Amino acid sequence: MLSHAAEPFELDFNRYLQGKYVYERNCIVCHGARGDGKGEMAANLVPRPRSFREGMFKFRTTPAGKLPTDDDLRHTIRFGLSGTAMGMFSQLADEDVEAVIMYVKSFSRQWRKPENYGEPITVPTAPSWLGKPERVKSGGVLFGVHCAGCHGPSGRGDGPAVPGLKDFWNHPGRPSDLRQPHLRCGDRAEDMYRVLMTGLNGTAMVSFEGVLTADQRWEIIGWLLTQRLPPVATLGAGPPRSAGKPVQ
Ligand code: HEC
Ligand code: HEC
Repeated sequence: MLSHAAEPFELDFNRYLQGKYVYERNCIVCHGARGDGKGEMAANLVPRPRSFREGMFKFRTTPAGKLPTDDDLRHTIRFGLSGTAMGMFSQLADEDVEAVIMYVKSFSRQWRKPENYGEPITVPTAPSWLGKPERVKSGGVLFGVHCAGCHGPSGRGDGPAVPGLKDFWNHPGRPSDLRQPHLRCGDRAEDMYRVLMTGLNGTAMVSFEGVLTADQRWEIIGWLLTQRLPPVATLGAGPPRSAGKPVQ
């Protein structure tokens, strides 16, 4: 199998046409005919549908600033993004999903540049001490220092920096309520860890890769899990995003 870094985008015209068909039936109302996120349903949605023209994607397994892998896009399309208008397209045939992925990529030239591709980050499994009281306590202190400015003291997304936050598309940058049992990045401790490594491209949520040690990341996540609200009867985030990837 080719690695992602060595996988420049090549347009297969038949697949492109099939993708256009799938897109016009399922995606155009939100993501728009030009892929600019300005479909007829878009104006009142928060968050807004993604514009595909800049090649900027939030939910990835790749390092900050890189394009998502096909697996990442497939996951978003198949399982949706919890709590947003991006629903799950579980009824599409596999080949329709592959075709619409190619069509989505055709909107941005960024897919033609090999330097925009990156290898998925490996997320280790959560340590056994994750919920230990002294670790949780230290995680709460670290959260106050590194995260509360945006996510608020309890993680609900109401920090003092919020009024000034904008995303790349110039919309208000609303920090996630991290107490919610279903997050867009996934429901597991490992999913939050991955976001701390990758950041969410185009938003104020940057990578903390060089800022926090692995133990500090897990301590913060351990504390966040103590803030978590009880699960609600809605659909979750699907299987783990890192499924099939080696674990360090
Ligand atoms: C009802 C509206 C709606 C429809 C229909 C819709 N989407 Fe979305 N989509 C959204 C919204 C809203 C977001 C942004 C969510 C966010 O930023 O958290 C999004 C985000 C995305 C993303 C970007 C995720 C990222 O990592 O940044 C992809 C890829 C995507 N949609 C693909 C599709 C495809 C393909 C279809 C059709 C099969 C589709 N969407 C149909 C509303 C929609
Ligand atoms: C400068 C502001 C800022 C700081 C500091 C910050 N975040 Fe965020 N974070 C955001 C924003 C904004 C989003 C949502 C981005 C979007 O979707 O537009 C977010 C999203 C997230 C998500 C994704 C949740 C989801 O909806 O899937 C996680 C997890 C997260 N942050 C954890 C943290 C942790 C832990 C820290 C501290 C180490 C932190 N953040 C620090 C602004 C910030």
